[in-house]
Amino acid sequence: MRQYGEGVKEDALRLLCGEKIGSGSGRDVYVFEPDPAYVIKIEASAGCYQNILEWENWKLLKDGKFAKYFAPCKLISPFGCALVMRKTERLPVSVKFRAPRFLRDVKGENFGMIGKDVVCHDYAHLAFRVNDRIIPIELSRIE
Ligand SMILES: Nc1ncnc2c1ncn2[C@@H]1O[C@H](COP(=O)(O)OP(=O)(O)O)[C@@H](O)[C@H]1O
Ligand SMILES: [Mg+2]
Repeated sequence: MRQYGEGVKEDALRLLCGEKIGSGSGRDVYVFEPDPAYVIKIEASAGCYQNILEWENWKLLKDGKFAKYFAPCKLISPFGCALVMRKTERLPVSVKFRAPRFLRDVKGENFGMIGKDVVCHDYAHLAFRVNDRIIPIELSRIE
């Protein structure tokens, strides 16, 4: 891909990015043009790794009982600059719901609706406490 200039790369991005629907501390969010049931999150500055963290969190969550509290991730680009996630709809004016304690960034802009469920769509940073005990370990070196 290195042989392609900036214009070509921008043109290819336009194929994927529809209307811009949001931005946060690290990412711009667009309707995913090939399927508007999804968004594409573009992370343009180095060092945040939010797309990658979100993707990895989704992999940990997706088969468990907490999956229903999160907008599913669908695709990630090889270096993590672009992440495709289920699109959520706007929250009602006020809403009460229950959610896991490990959700850290609890504010309205990080949540949306999928059907009747309130889900988190910004979950790069979670405070997992799967098991925080210190346990004894025994190792033997292989000679
Ligand atoms: N899955 C989604 N569906 C609809 N809108 C979204 C989705 N994810 C993010 N957004 C919108 O884009 C904004 C920025 O996305 P967010 O993931 O919070 O980025 P950042 O990590 O930079 O804060 C959100 O506040 C929200 O308005
Ligand atoms: Mg956010």
